[in-house]
Amino acid sequence: MKGLFITIEGPDGAGKSSLVKRLNESILEQTKRPLVMTREPGGSEIAEEIREIILNPLHTKMDARTEALLLAAGRRQHVVEKIRPALERGDIVLCDRFVDSSIAYQGKARGIGMDEVRAINEFAIEGLKPDATLYLDVEAHIGLARIMDKKSNRAQDRLELEEVTFHDKVREGYKEIIAQDPERFEIIDASLDEETVYQKAWQKIHSLISE
Ligand code: TMP
Repeated sequence: MKGLFITIEGPDGAGKSSLVKRLNESILEQTKRPLVMTREPGGSEIAEEIREIILNPLHTKMDARTEALLLAAGRRQHVVEKIRPALERGDIVLCDRFVDSSIAYQGKARGIGMDEVRAINEFAIEGLKPDATLYLDVEAHIGLARIMDKKSNRAQDRLELEEVTFHDKVREGYKEIIAQDPERFEIIDASLDEETVYQKAWQKIHSLISE
């Protein structure tokens, strides 16, 4: 495919959302190439509806495999409707979370198994793989403290409400994923200040879009 597929990953509270917004602005300033900025869970109308079901804090009964399947179903729709057509057109796609999130959160932290979750996602994405992934690394307790700080602005979702031990496992999961495919990842220490994190992320993205 002609496009460039970049994903951003990390535990909750790593500061992805504000970083993605800034990167989006910088890419638009620096290149004439069309850019699609998107996110998961969600990213298309149907997938956003599935997102609501997954993250609803009232859905305490949701089984771990149901969660993984819903995420993969939303992802399928997102890939078919938005990501794949954009890459076929030659656009840059910047996606906040993708399959790595499911492998870390559902595979490792929920304990379904990383290979099992990889397999159901393979069914959904049919071989689509990011060209590069920025991984914002932050210890679980720091990430969760940041979320608590922002709590007055918005309610926490069902996954953010998990214990710190769950989020520790998410980070372990990411470390395993990175060890298996190190070339795809740019690891950024997200405990640093926002400006430094942005500069490091932009350096990587700038080199990718200039290639
Ligand atoms: P967000 O805070 O980045 O919007 O993501 C919402 C939550 O969903 C976050 O806690 C991570 C979680 N999540 C998964 O558990 N598995 C997935 O595959 C994705 C995309 C997100």
